[in-house]
Amino acid sequence: MQKLRLAVIGTGHLGKNHLRIFSEMTEIELVAFSDISEELVDEYSEKYGVKGYTDFEKLLGENLDGVSVVVPTEFHFKVASFFIKNGIHVMVEKPVTKTAAEAEELLALSQKHDVIFQVGHIERFNSAILSLKNAIQAPRYIESLRLGPFTPRVKDVGVVLDIMIHDIDIVLSLVNSPVERIDAVGVSVVSAHEDIANAHIVFKNGTIANFSASRLSNEKCRKIRIFNNDAYFSVDYADQEVKIQKLQNGGIVEEKPEIQKEEPLKLELQDFIKCIQEKRKPVVSGLEGSQALKVAMDIINKIKEREKLFNSDDNSK
Ligand SMILES: NC(=O)c1ccc[n+]([C@@H]2O[C@H](COP(=O)([O-])OP(=O)(O)OC[C@H]3O[C@@H](n4cnc5c(N)ncnc54)[C@H](O)[C@@H]3O)[C@@H](O)[C@H]2O)c1
Repeated sequence: MQKLRLAVIGTGHLGKNHLRIFSEMTEIELVAFSDISEELVDEYSEKYGVKGYTDFEKLLGENLDGVSVVVPTEFHFKVASFFIKNGIHVMVEKPVTKTAAEAEELLALSQKHDVIFQVGHIERFNSAILSLKNAIQAPRYIESLRLGPFTPRVKDVGVVLDIMIHDIDIVLSLVNSPVERIDAVGVSVVSAHEDIANAHIVFKNGTIANFSASRLSNEKCRKIRIFNNDAYFSVDYADQEVKIQKLQNGGIVEEKPEIQKEEPLKLELQDFIKCIQEKRKPVVSGLEGSQALKVAMDIINKIKEREKLFNSDDNSK
């Protein structure tokens, strides 16, 4: 069987890891990459011995099977739609696009051109989350906490699209019910977007999810706690660890399962390759990516509504 021919578009903070992982996969051939930075093109074409292009459209001459799109979010649509329209399978980083309309259009294009369209919600491939796949049946209450320092690199989106969306996607994958109500608050401190946010979602089946995210914290933390009827799961995404407390015979039994830790990005990119080879739907397809984006946009709109209300109250004084 001929090896699949892959390329990476955008080799910055995260894209350089896509390049590294593809270069180590024996089942595919990393044939090229693109970045608008000539410096990065020179550095990585030398390091990996593959062609680098400053113009991603030139990659069409490389007879590619698939690409991973790791450019800033505002350019996801432009880059991903170009490859999809040319019949090339696409894995696009999270959030899928900057607007829900763009996500819908990419989804429709991927169906029309019959290509794999995967979205990089990496926590689905976190070994701690994978270990709980069958254990969490009917969550009733979920709370997530995601904190990190501000990185001026991320200017195009706020904290909800930057990091809270990871937890939104995980919660949507766990709760088998439509969203009934969303409430949210947030403030912008150092950027033009919200830098700290808190959201509360009630699902139609009664499940409640609370999300807190901040990109203004010296402390780094990525945790989610999930309460079932008879058990409580505490997940540390960063350490890939899980603690479980179960109600048993009127008492509480504690467990800390042994988890075989893997690099989530490696598992995610391997899944992309398998999807192309087996012509199957990705674990996180364009559909799941757009659903997470829609909830994230609803949260952002709630934050903006409150901001307007607050400003108009302030003006009236
Ligand atoms: N899954 C995750 O956990 C995770 C983590 C970090 C970033 N991301 C996502 O990955 C994407 C990239 O983030 P980043 O932190 O690597 O950003 P970055 O700014 O470090 O890198 C983006 C790169 O894209 C290049 N670029 C811009 N326009 C281009 C174009 N037209 N053609 C080719 N290259 C182009 C830039 O020169 C830069 O090197 C964002 O969508 C972000 O949300 C996801």
